[in-house]
Amino acid sequence: MAVIAKQCPEYKVIVVDINDDRIQAWKSDDLPIYEPGLQEVVEEARGRNLFFSTDVAAGIQEADIIFVSVNTPTKTFGKGAGRAADLQYWERTARDILKHSNGNKIVVEKSTVPVRTAEAMGRILNSGAGAHRFEVLSNPEFLAEGTGIRDLMEPDRVLIGGQSTPEGQAAVEELVRIYEHWIPRERILTTSVWSSELSKLVANAFLAQRISSINSVSAICEASQADVTEVSRAVGMDSRIGPKFLNASIGFGGSCFKKDILDLVYLCEHYGLPEVAEYWAQVVRINDYQKRRFVRRVVSNLFDTVVGKRIAVFGFAFKSNTGDTRESPAIDVCKQLAEERARVVVSDPRALGNARADLADLGSQIEYERDPYEAAAGSHAILVLTEWEIYRTLDYKRILASMEKPAYVFDGRNILDHEALHAIGFNVVPIGKAPLTSL
Ligand code: UGA
Repeated sequence: MAVIAKQCPEYKVIVVDINDDRIQAWKSDDLPIYEPGLQEVVEEARGRNLFFSTDVAAGIQEADIIFVSVNTPTKTFGKGAGRAADLQYWERTARDILKHSNGNKIVVEKSTVPVRTAEAMGRILNSGAGAHRFEVLSNPEFLAEGTGIRDLMEPDRVLIGGQSTPEGQAAVEELVRIYEHWIPRERILTTSVWSSELSKLVANAFLAQRISSINSVSAICEASQADVTEVSRAVGMDSRIGPKFLNASIGFGGSCFKKDILDLVYLCEHYGLPEVAEYWAQVVRINDYQKRRFVRRVVSNLFDTVVGKRIAVFGFAFKSNTGDTRESPAIDVCKQLAEERARVVVSDPRALGNARADLADLGSQIEYERDPYEAAAGSHAILVLTEWEIYRTLDYKRILASMEKPAYVFDGRNILDHEALHAIGFNVVPIGKAPLTSL
């Protein structure tokens, strides 16, 4: 919304939320989320045509177009628990819109939702006395965290789904007009609502599938002494496959991939397509396998026991340039190491607050240390779990001198210079390649 306000000064954008603390934070210098470049965008538009408020009813009344961006987490109860999307917040919002509206509105699904949610929402919204018309559009978001502003400014595409009726198409054109302020028309795709809703789930499923594919290959590489980086390069240079999203890792995290695949799996089951459901479910299973496999590799290299050993974790966020730890693979890795009774020291430039909350159950078995040098001191091993740039440029000679010997680096992201680390005396265990160890 901040980017829309920045790019379209003649539109007034009001962001409403029932959470007063969040709204106050959006009005302050300390925004509630960290995203490179966001502060500048908000500051440019705030007070000009971008406003934040807790008055939801007034926001609804004033708006011609309402973007609904409430969360749609995986259901934890009842039918579809653990897989289906929980739509209670979306439905409540639709009912609020109906209650407070005093004119026709375009309602835009920004949240990621199961296919045919717009249909259900349209039925709720148009269930009133019929005085006002509501057109429901699907406009899924494809930005990735950490590169959000760039992704919004230069998206590969913008997708807008609408009904084929004249009213539906007119609503689609209204939304196209907003994006046309800065995005070439040929990158703005218009489709049916169902295609748009499904495309969002499928895009995330394809991206996650690529990671699970290369991670499954990393296991074959370790077994066969091939090198996953070389394989991924050779495969990715085929222009039909492409080089992006082929970095082997400890597994994907983030609030979306797992949730959206589970949602897709649930939809397949709902439509009586168990083979298709099974196919996509395997992407999540390989991801869990990869995390377990990594921990097994750590333990077996550390002489089959980590009991009482200090292990430094470099990076806890699910990816670099964010403090977000939702579904971060580091959570499972740390929990599994704690089960093996290691003493884990977690370090991260932005995510220590979230890490403390995620690992609260483990109490004093986990330490938190912002400074990577302090975290590594006295440890038997360093585990690189997030690809933060700073980890590439640390003084590893100094770190080695402070560690127990033999000292190990397990590079869960393959971002360090393995040869150089080995040359100064580290035992290096990457993902999907032969370890560089000394006798
Ligand atoms: C993802 C999609 O990339 C966005 O297009 C989508 O809009 C977003 O979900 C969403 O649905 O909201 P995000 O979760 O922010 O974005 O982050 P990604 O860059 O996709 O990374 C996801 C995970 O995959 C991270 O843990 C990352 O480290 C991992 N990853 C990524 C790999 O392990 N290997 C790779 O080659 C790439």
